[in-house]
Amino acid sequence: MKNIPPELITEKILSLKREKNAVILAHYYQVPEIQDIADFVGDSLGLSQQAFKTKADIIVFAGVHFMAETVKILNPAKKVLLPDLEAGCSLADSCPPDKFQEFKKSYPDHIVISYINCSAQIKTMSDVICTSSNAKKIVESFPKDQKIIFAPDKNLGGYINAQTGRKMVLWNGSCEVHDIIRTEAVIKLKTENPGALLIAHPECKAVILELADFIGSTTALLDYTIKSPALKFIVATETGILHQMKKNSPQKEFYIVPTDETCSCNDCPYMKMNTLEKLYAALFNEKPEIKLSGRVMDKAIKPILRMLELSE
Ligand code: 13P
Ligand code: SF4
Repeated sequence: MKNIPPELITEKILSLKREKNAVILAHYYQVPEIQDIADFVGDSLGLSQQAFKTKADIIVFAGVHFMAETVKILNPAKKVLLPDLEAGCSLADSCPPDKFQEFKKSYPDHIVISYINCSAQIKTMSDVICTSSNAKKIVESFPKDQKIIFAPDKNLGGYINAQTGRKMVLWNGSCEVHDIIRTEAVIKLKTENPGALLIAHPECKAVILELADFIGSTTALLDYTIKSPALKFIVATETGILHQMKKNSPQKEFYIVPTDETCSCNDCPYMKMNTLEKLYAALFNEKPEIKLSGRVMDKAIKPILRMLELSE
C-alpha cells in the first residue's frame, strides 16, 4: 500500500468504500475527520441498530473493540474491520470473565444485565444487554422483585438503581474517562459561566450526576443541546461529542469538563487510536478483522437480540 497524501485520503476512502460495498460506522467519540466521513455516526445503541440492518459486505467500525465485537456478533458472515485492534476500553477491561464467573456464582438466583461496554465473553454470561440510552427501560422490563446483577459500570448501575428504586447488585467497574471527572472542575466552569446548563453522561460519578441539569447517552445529550433554548452547556463526557454539538448549534457555546489541568479536553485514549490513515489502511488491506469463535457468537447474540427487541 502506497502512502496517500493527507489531502487525498478522504477521496480514496470514499472510492474504496464504493468499490468494496463497505459501510463506515463511527461513534461520537471519534475524531471529527472520521465522523465526517462516516455513513452513520451514533451512540452505542444507534450503532448496534445500524449494524443489524446493514446490507454492506464489509463494515469498517470506527470505535473501540467491544463495539466492533458486537457488530461482528450481529453479522457473523460479514467482514468487520477495526482500524486499530488495540482500541480497547477501560470499562470493558474492568470486568475479567473468570472473575465475573466467580462473582455470578455468589448470586445464583440473580439474572445478569450487562452494559454493552463489556467483552463478548461477558455477553455470553448475560441475560440481556443494555446501553446508556435504554438501561432504565431494560431494567424496568423485569418485575420489581427480580434479583439482578448489573455489570460492569457501577456508576450507570447506581444511577439506574436511584432512578428505578431497584437494588441491583453492582459489579465494581468504571470508565477511566468519565469516572475521573471532578466536582471542582464542574463547579469552576459553572462559576465562570453563570446560566450554563450541566449535561452529563451516566458513566460519571453520582456526585457529578447530582449536579447535572440533564443526564443521558451521547445521542440524548446531543439532542438535548439541539432542543434546549439554553445557549451555554457544560459537557461532562468525552470531547468527541462536541463536534456534532457545534455543527448542529453553531450559535451555542460548549465547555467540556477537563480532567487534566494542562488541557481543556477529556479524550478517551482508546477511541482516539483510530485515525483516517488507519481507516484507509484497514479498508485497503481488509484487516485488522474482528474474529470470534462460533461458540461465543452463538451465545452472545441472544442477550444482544433481546436488547434490540426491548428497545423497539
Ligand atoms: P453511549 O454511546 O451509550 O453514549 O456510551 C458512551 C461510551 O462510553 C461508549 O464507550
Ligand atoms: Fe470505554 Fe470510557 Fe472510552 Fe467509552 S469512554 S470506550 S467507556 S474507556
